[in-house]
Amino acid sequence: MTEGGQLVMLEAAAELGGAEPSDPPFELRVNGAQHTLSVDPLTRLSDALREELQLTGTKVGCDAGDCGACTVLLDGRPVCSCLTSVAQAAGRNVTTVEGLAAGGVLSSLQQAFITQGAAQCGACTPGMLIAATALLESNARPSEEEVMAAIGGVLCRCTGYRKIIEAVFAAADGNLEVESPPAGQAVGSRAPRLDAVAKVTGAEIYGADRYPEGALWLRVIRSPHPRARFALGDTAPLLLEYPGLALVLSAPDVPVNGFGIFPQVKDQPVLAAGRVRYRGEAVLALIGERAAVEAIPESAIPIQYRVERHTLDSDEGLRPGEPLHDFAPDNVLIRGRVCKGDVDVALETTPFVTEGQFTTSFVEHAYIEPEAGYAEYVSGKDGRGRIRVFACTQTPYMDRDELARILAVDVEQVHIVPSAVGGASQSLPLVLPERTAPDRPARLEASERVYLPAGIGRSIPLAAGLFATTSQRRVWHRACSASDFWRRLHVRRREG
Ligand code: FES
Ligand code: FES
Repeated sequence: MTEGGQLVMLEAAAELGGAEPSDPPFELRVNGAQHTLSVDPLTRLSDALREELQLTGTKVGCDAGDCGACTVLLDGRPVCSCLTSVAQAAGRNVTTVEGLAAGGVLSSLQQAFITQGAAQCGACTPGMLIAATALLESNARPSEEEVMAAIGGVLCRCTGYRKIIEAVFAAADGNLEVESPPAGQAVGSRAPRLDAVAKVTGAEIYGADRYPEGALWLRVIRSPHPRARFALGDTAPLLLEYPGLALVLSAPDVPVNGFGIFPQVKDQPVLAAGRVRYRGEAVLALIGERAAVEAIPESAIPIQYRVERHTLDSDEGLRPGEPLHDFAPDNVLIRGRVCKGDVDVALETTPFVTEGQFTTSFVEHAYIEPEAGYAEYVSGKDGRGRIRVFACTQTPYMDRDELARILAVDVEQVHIVPSAVGGASQSLPLVLPERTAPDRPARLEASERVYLPAGIGRSIPLAAGLFATTSQRRVWHRACSASDFWRRLHVRRREG
C-alpha cells in the first residue's frame, strides 16, 4: 500500500461516512453469503475479496480510485473497493461480479455484454457490469447520457465504450439473442467470443488471480528519477531489522542482466546497475512474507541517487552529448534503409494534394490489468529442474527465450504458462490526414512520443530471474504495469 493510497483510503472513509473501524473479526455479507474476516480494519475491501475470499472477479487496476475496475456494490451503491476499507463494509451487503448470475443463470446485462461484444480483454468488464447493474436497478430505461454517466467512472481501453453502451440498451430492451453464424459463414458475421462467459462472470484467470499457497512476495524498488546514477549501500541490516524479509537482490544477483526484443540488443537490465534511465526502472527486489516486505518504508532502502539531466524526446536525444546507452553512439539504436519513389515528382504530377501538420495527443494505453505472475521450481519429465512461470503475456516463446538467457539455462528448463491477458496493446499513435484522394499519394508527417512505464514483460524475467536465486521457494509478484502513469494521473486529479 502506498502512502498516497492509504491517505486516499482514509479520506474516502471520512467522505463515505462508513462504519467506524472496530476490532476484528469483521462480518461481511458478500453475494448473499456471510463471512468472518480477521484482518486489519484498513484492509482494502478489494484485497479482502481477492485474497481472503478468493473472489478474484473483482479486478485491481490502479489501487487509487482512478480506473474503476474494482467497482462493487455496497448496499446497492457502486463504490471503488480499493478505496473502501473492510471496516466500512462490515455489516453491509457487498455484491461482486460473481454475484450477478443468480443460480448460475447469467443476468440480462451479462448476456447482453456477450451478444454485443462488450467484453473484450475483460479487465474492465466486472467493474462495468457492476456499474451498469446499479444503473438498471434504479432506472430501467436510461438515456444514453445516463448510461455514460453511470459507467463514466470505469475505464476501458479496448471497446471505445460504444459496445458497452449498446449492451446496456440491449439489456434494457431484452434484446439478448445470440446470433451464431451458420457453419461455413463465420467470416464477416458477428459471433460471441468463446471466452465471453468467463469474462462476464469473473471466472477468467489473469496473472494476478492465481498464485501457489505459501508463495513469497516480490516487491520491486523503482527509481523515482528519469535519469540518475546511484550507489547502493549495505542492504544486510534490512534483513535483521525486518523479520520476514528473506532476500534483497540487486543487479549482481542476475546471471545475465539484460534483455530486450531485438536479437542483438539487450539493453534493458532486469535490475539497474548503477544508472537508471527512466522513472520507474527496477533497482532492487525485496522478497519475503508479503506483510513484512510491504511494511518496509522506501526511506529505509539504502540507495543514494545522483540525479542527472534527463532527455524526454528524440530531438533532444539526437543533440551531441553523453550517450544514454554505452552501446549506442549518438543515441541511435539502429539505422535502416528505406526505398521509395520520387516523392517530389509524385506530388507535382498528382491532381490532388493535401498538406497539413498533424499532431497526436500524448498517448498512454494504460491497460487496466496489472503486470503479475508467479514462478516456481518444478521437475521436468527428464528429471531436470524447470522454472515454471505463470504470468500475463502475449509472447510466451519470446519470454521463454529471454528468461533462459537471463538465467543462463537451456530453454527446455523454462516453461511459460500464459494467463488471460488484459493489456499489452501497442501505444503507437497513428495519424491520418482527414481527407485524401483515393489511390493518390498523400503526404504524411507524424511525430510520435511513446510513454514507457515499467514495461510490458518486465516482471516476467524479474520474477523468474529472482526465483532462481531463492532455491525452492515460490515467488509471486503483482505490480501496476502503468503504476507511474496512474500515480501521476491521480496526483493531477487531486491537484486539479
Ligand atoms: S479504482 Fe480501484 S483499482 Fe482502480
Ligand atoms: S474490455 Fe475494457 S479494458 Fe479490455
